[in-house]
Amino acid sequence: MSASIIDGKQIAAAIKQEAAQETEKLRAQGIVPCLATVLVGEDPASQTYVGMKRKACEELGLRSIFEQHPADMSEADLLALVDRLNKDPEVHGILVQLPLPDHIDDKKVLLLIDPDKDVDGFHPMNVGRMMVGEPRFLPCTPAGVIELLMRSGNEPGGKEVVVVGRSNIVGKPVAVMLMQKNARANATVTVAHSRTRDLPEVVRRGDIVIAAMGVPGFIKGEWLKPGAVVIDVGTNRVDDATRERGWRLVGDVAFDEAKEVASAITPVPGGVGPMTIALLMANTVRAAKLANGIE
Ligand SMILES: NC(=O)c1ccc[n+]([C@@H]2O[C@H](COP(=O)([O-])OP(=O)(O)OC[C@H]3O[C@@H](n4cnc5c(N)ncnc54)[C@H](OP(=O)(O)O)[C@@H]3O)[C@@H](O)[C@H]2O)c1
Repeated sequence: MSASIIDGKQIAAAIKQEAAQETEKLRAQGIVPCLATVLVGEDPASQTYVGMKRKACEELGLRSIFEQHPADMSEADLLALVDRLNKDPEVHGILVQLPLPDHIDDKKVLLLIDPDKDVDGFHPMNVGRMMVGEPRFLPCTPAGVIELLMRSGNEPGGKEVVVVGRSNIVGKPVAVMLMQKNARANATVTVAHSRTRDLPEVVRRGDIVIAAMGVPGFIKGEWLKPGAVVIDVGTNRVDDATRERGWRLVGDVAFDEAKEVASAITPVPGGVGPMTIALLMANTVRAAKLANGIE
């Protein structure tokens, strides 16, 4: 068997197109969805991520405000900036790019973001809402995983899902979303982590396996139940002398083996990766609607 490929680029493009259409409708009513991105310091990866988010805003017709500040910005100044963005009625979404420099308490900053503008979905208020099944903004990467399942015809309802990883940004939220009582969830969820005994046996239970570990190629093809659906969130750089840049990206799943056992699988890159920004755009459009009493 060779698995079908779940094309994250294509699914992300469809979600972006929907966000662009919604934006056009809002613009016709004089509302321009606006995302403010805040970058402190010069971390190259963070610069790239923020650049991609700003570019997506431009492509989709959203307004983008970019606040770039030096690495020695004080915590007090950053908190004041977030406060100002919270109060600005033209700003619908606020994204503070992590990691922040060591002298800034990132929890303090994230707590200050108005939950109604928290398009990253990390504020405890939004995490709580997700937990009780009344979400406002779902965190983008796990929400992207759900979209990949739903839009590829692999609805999780009634299925055994094994999530490998329990971080606050991927593993835990995706597990919480999948156990909800709704048509996009209704799964029986197992969460595995570094203390799980006999991981291969646990993974073998999964009709759907979601890998979010950050360990290249760790999950082997022979661990999978034949016909399983595999969503690989892992995004790991490994050395590759055949590439000009000297590295390539791989997932947490040994792709070549897994695709011979699975029925469907996401590639890395081109699977979960493109979904995160698409969902961020969707969340920002939603924030603009909520701020204007449209939803
Ligand atoms: N947009 C995207 O595509 C996107 C977004 C976010 C993250 N990612 C990628 O997703 C991966 C996970 O990210 P993260 O932030 O969730 O990572 P993380 O915070 O490092 O969490 C990793 C999780 O995997 C578990 N784990 C690690 N080694 C394990 C092992 N040998 N056996 C079983 N479990 C193990 C850890 O268990 P313990 O809790 O016991 O330590 C932890 O819960 C990374 O590759 C990251 O780059 C991609």
